Amino acid sequence: MKKYLLVISFAICMCIVACGGNSTSNSSDSVASTNGNPKMGSIPSDVSGNPDYQKGLGLVSKSDCFTCHQIKEAGTGPAYQDVANKYSNDEATVNALAQKVIRGGSGVWGTVPMTPHPDISLDDAKAMVKYVLMLKNK
Ligand code: HEC
Repeated sequence: MKKYLLVISFAICMCIVACGGNSTSNSSDSVASTNGNPKMGSIPSDVSGNPDYQKGLGLVSKSDCFTCHQIKEAGTGPAYQDVANKYSNDEATVNALAQKVIRGGSGVWGTVPMTPHPDISLDDAKAMVKYVLMLKNK
Protein backbone atom coordinates (compact mmCIF):
# COMPACT_ATOMS: atom_id res chain seq x y z
CA MET A 1 0.00 0.00 0.00
CA LYS A 2 2.75 2.36 0.99
CA LYS A 3 4.63 1.46 -2.13
CA TYR A 4 1.56 2.21 -4.19
CA LEU A 5 1.26 5.66 -2.63
CA LEU A 6 4.90 6.31 -3.34
CA VAL A 7 4.42 5.42 -6.97
CA ILE A 8 1.42 7.72 -7.17
CA SER A 9 3.21 10.65 -5.59
CA PHE A 10 6.15 10.04 -7.85
CA ALA A 11 3.84 10.09 -10.85
CA ILE A 12 2.25 13.32 -9.63
CA CYS A 13 5.64 14.91 -9.16
CA MET A 14 6.71 13.85 -12.61
CA CYS A 15 3.55 15.30 -14.02
CA ILE A 16 4.11 18.58 -12.27
CA VAL A 17 7.67 18.64 -13.52
CA ALA A 18 6.66 17.60 -17.01
CA CYS A 19 3.60 19.80 -17.39
CA GLY A 20 5.03 22.50 -15.16
CA GLY A 21 8.67 22.98 -15.90
CA ASN A 22 9.24 26.20 -17.70
CA SER A 23 5.67 26.85 -18.77
CA THR A 24 3.52 26.22 -15.66
CA SER A 25 5.51 28.30 -13.27
CA ASN A 26 5.17 31.17 -15.68
CA SER A 27 1.57 30.62 -16.58
CA SER A 28 0.41 30.05 -13.03
CA ASP A 29 2.15 33.22 -11.96
CA SER A 30 0.41 35.08 -14.67
CA VAL A 31 -2.93 33.53 -13.72
CA ALA A 32 -2.50 34.80 -10.20
CA SER A 33 -1.38 38.24 -11.24
CA THR A 34 -3.10 39.05 -14.52
CA ASN A 35 -6.67 38.00 -13.98
CA GLY A 36 -7.14 41.13 -11.95
CA ASN A 37 -9.41 39.49 -9.42
CA PRO A 38 -8.07 39.95 -5.91
CA LYS A 39 -10.17 37.04 -4.65
CA MET A 40 -7.98 34.71 -6.71
CA GLY A 41 -4.88 35.45 -4.70
CA SER A 42 -4.14 32.29 -2.81
CA ILE A 43 -4.89 29.31 -5.00
CA PRO A 44 -2.16 26.70 -4.93
CA SER A 45 -0.17 26.93 -8.14
CA ASP A 46 -0.36 23.18 -8.75
CA VAL A 47 -4.06 23.37 -9.65
CA SER A 48 -3.85 26.69 -11.44
CA GLY A 49 -1.79 25.06 -14.20
CA ASN A 50 -4.57 22.54 -14.85
CA PRO A 51 -6.45 23.25 -18.10
CA ASP A 52 -9.81 22.36 -16.49
CA TYR A 53 -9.09 24.84 -13.75
CA GLN A 54 -8.22 27.54 -16.26
CA LYS A 55 -11.28 26.89 -18.37
CA GLY A 56 -13.67 26.80 -15.41
CA LEU A 57 -12.18 29.89 -13.84
CA GLY A 58 -12.50 31.75 -17.13
CA LEU A 59 -16.18 30.87 -17.39
CA VAL A 60 -16.94 31.61 -13.74
CA SER A 61 -15.19 34.97 -14.04
CA LYS A 62 -17.19 35.90 -17.12
CA SER A 63 -20.49 34.96 -15.51
CA ASP A 64 -22.04 36.45 -12.37
CA CYS A 65 -20.81 33.75 -9.98
CA PHE A 66 -18.38 35.95 -8.07
CA THR A 67 -21.11 38.40 -7.16
CA CYS A 68 -22.40 35.78 -4.70
CA HIS A 69 -19.46 33.42 -4.26
CA GLN A 70 -15.94 33.89 -3.04
CA ILE A 71 -13.22 31.30 -2.82
CA LYS A 72 -12.70 31.20 0.91
CA GLU A 73 -15.53 33.11 2.53
CA ALA A 74 -19.25 32.63 2.43
CA GLY A 75 -21.19 35.56 1.04
CA THR A 76 -24.65 35.32 -0.44
CA GLY A 77 -23.55 31.89 -1.58
CA PRO A 78 -21.24 29.39 0.12
CA ALA A 79 -17.47 29.73 -0.26
CA TYR A 80 -16.28 27.67 -3.22
CA GLN A 81 -13.75 26.01 -0.99
CA ASP A 82 -16.56 24.83 1.33
CA VAL A 83 -18.49 23.51 -1.68
CA ALA A 84 -15.37 21.64 -2.82
CA ASN A 85 -14.79 20.18 0.63
CA LYS A 86 -18.38 18.99 0.91
CA TYR A 87 -18.47 16.90 -2.26
CA SER A 88 -16.34 14.30 -3.93
CA ASN A 89 -15.04 15.22 -7.35
CA ASP A 90 -16.72 12.65 -9.56
CA GLU A 91 -18.80 12.70 -12.71
CA ALA A 92 -22.18 12.26 -10.95
CA THR A 93 -21.49 15.14 -8.58
CA VAL A 94 -20.24 17.39 -11.38
CA ASN A 95 -23.43 16.64 -13.30
CA ALA A 96 -25.74 17.26 -10.36
CA LEU A 97 -24.05 20.51 -9.36
CA ALA A 98 -23.96 21.70 -12.98
CA GLN A 99 -27.74 21.15 -13.18
CA LYS A 100 -28.15 23.11 -9.98
CA VAL A 101 -26.13 26.04 -11.39
CA ILE A 102 -28.39 26.06 -14.44
CA ARG A 103 -31.67 25.64 -12.56
CA GLY A 104 -30.80 27.47 -9.37
CA GLY A 105 -32.12 26.33 -6.03
CA SER A 106 -31.77 26.44 -2.29
CA GLY A 107 -31.84 24.25 0.77
CA VAL A 108 -28.37 22.75 0.81
CA TRP A 109 -26.48 25.67 2.34
CA GLY A 110 -29.40 27.64 3.71
CA THR A 111 -32.62 29.23 2.62
CA VAL A 112 -31.11 31.79 0.24
CA PRO A 113 -31.58 30.54 -3.32
CA MET A 114 -29.00 30.57 -6.08
CA THR A 115 -30.45 32.31 -9.12
CA PRO A 116 -30.96 30.08 -12.18
CA HIS A 117 -28.53 30.39 -15.11
CA PRO A 118 -30.58 29.11 -18.06
CA ASP A 119 -28.17 30.64 -20.60
CA ILE A 120 -25.24 28.53 -19.46
CA SER A 121 -24.80 25.28 -21.41
CA LEU A 122 -24.46 22.03 -19.49
CA ASP A 123 -20.87 21.70 -20.72
CA ASP A 124 -19.94 25.15 -19.49
CA ALA A 125 -21.70 24.59 -16.18
CA LYS A 126 -19.77 21.33 -15.75
CA ALA A 127 -16.50 23.10 -16.48
CA MET A 128 -17.37 25.71 -13.85
CA VAL A 129 -18.21 23.05 -11.29
CA LYS A 130 -14.97 21.17 -12.04
CA TYR A 131 -13.07 24.34 -11.29
CA VAL A 132 -14.98 24.82 -8.02
CA LEU A 133 -14.34 21.22 -6.94
CA MET A 134 -10.61 21.64 -7.56
CA LEU A 135 -10.47 24.14 -4.72
CA LYS A 136 -10.80 21.36 -2.15
CA ASN A 137 -8.31 21.87 0.65
CA LYS A 138 -9.37 19.20 3.15
C1 HEC B 1 -27.57 35.33 -6.61
C2 HEC B 1 -26.41 34.76 -5.96
C3 HEC B 1 -25.69 33.61 -6.68
C4 HEC B 1 -25.11 33.61 -7.94
C5 HEC B 1 -25.10 34.72 -8.95
C6 HEC B 1 -24.49 32.30 -8.08
N1 HEC B 1 -24.70 31.54 -6.97
FE1 HEC B 1 -24.06 29.64 -6.66
N2 HEC B 1 -25.06 29.58 -4.91
C7 HEC B 1 -25.78 30.64 -4.36
C8 HEC B 1 -26.42 30.18 -3.14
C9 HEC B 1 -27.29 31.03 -2.20
C10 HEC B 1 -26.09 28.81 -3.01
C11 HEC B 1 -26.56 27.84 -1.93
C12 HEC B 1 -27.81 27.10 -2.45
C13 HEC B 1 -28.32 26.08 -1.49
O1 HEC B 1 -28.26 26.28 -0.29
O2 HEC B 1 -28.82 25.03 -1.97
C14 HEC B 1 -25.22 28.48 -4.14
C15 HEC B 1 -24.67 27.23 -4.34
C16 HEC B 1 -23.77 26.92 -5.33
C17 HEC B 1 -23.12 25.65 -5.50
C18 HEC B 1 -23.29 24.45 -4.57
C19 HEC B 1 -24.65 23.83 -4.80
C20 HEC B 1 -24.99 22.75 -3.84
O3 HEC B 1 -26.09 22.16 -4.00
O4 HEC B 1 -24.22 22.46 -2.91
C21 HEC B 1 -22.35 25.74 -6.61
C22 HEC B 1 -21.47 24.65 -7.21
C23 HEC B 1 -22.52 27.06 -7.16
N3 HEC B 1 -23.39 27.76 -6.36
C24 HEC B 1 -21.90 27.53 -8.29
C25 HEC B 1 -22.22 28.74 -8.90
C26 HEC B 1 -21.74 29.13 -10.20
C27 HEC B 1 -20.79 28.31 -11.06
C28 HEC B 1 -22.27 30.36 -10.45
C29 HEC B 1 -22.10 31.20 -11.71
C30 HEC B 1 -22.66 30.63 -12.91
C31 HEC B 1 -23.09 30.72 -9.31
N4 HEC B 1 -23.03 29.71 -8.39
C32 HEC B 1 -23.78 31.91 -9.20
C33 HEC B 1 -25.85 31.92 -4.84
C34 HEC B 1 -25.43 32.31 -6.09
